[in-house]
Amino acid sequence: KDNMREDVLRVLLSEEEIHAKVKEMGKKITEDYKNSNLMLVTVLKGAVVFLADIMREIDVPAEIDFMVVSSYGSGVKSSGVVKIVKDLDVPLEGKDILIVEDILDSGLTLSYIKELLASRGPRSIKVATLLDKPSRRKVDLQADYVGFSVPDEFVIGYGLDYDEKYRNLPYIGILKPEVYSV
Ligand code: PRP
Ligand code: MN
Ligand code: MG
Repeated sequence: KDNMREDVLRVLLSEEEIHAKVKEMGKKITEDYKNSNLMLVTVLKGAVVFLADIMREIDVPAEIDFMVVSSYGSGVKSSGVVKIVKDLDVPLEGKDILIVEDILDSGLTLSYIKELLASRGPRSIKVATLLDKPSRRKVDLQADYVGFSVPDEFVIGYGLDYDEKYRNLPYIGILKPEVYSV
């Protein structure tokens, strides 16, 4: 196959739509975090593209840090119990933590991480997600900043993967069913 874009059924959110939304979210976050100790926390890998864009729309001095998690066993996504493969590098006391996610789906991973980080004594802890799939939620968790609410379709691009690929697609698309049903 010579072109990744041939695997896209249709564009769900164009680069322009995403950029406009990210700008708007960044503006709101800037207002809300005046006089804060903002630290953006990203769980690799899906949210890296969103983080890279939104951090430059946030006009307050902010730290960034990353976590790597993996699920225990194969029932990962159903249990929500995760193993911390790479933890944050600094203590969180007094910090205003904003967890940056690309998509909030069942909410299991995020609710685990949010509780874990909350136990470390930050001044505040909130969540910003570009996409929200509320129809898939398994725990009672809402993001504080949501870019777009999306239907339960197979979304790829702008960091979101299918089988670890398509993260480099610059927009958000729906994957053609024949790609994942072969
Ligand atoms: C995806 C996505 C979110 C999470 C959402 O990450 O990037 O982090 O799933 O799902 P949930 O709400 O059901 O927990 P994934 O675990 O696929 O890792 P990745 O970011 O490396 O793709
Ligand atoms: Mn992820
Ligand atoms: Mg993934």
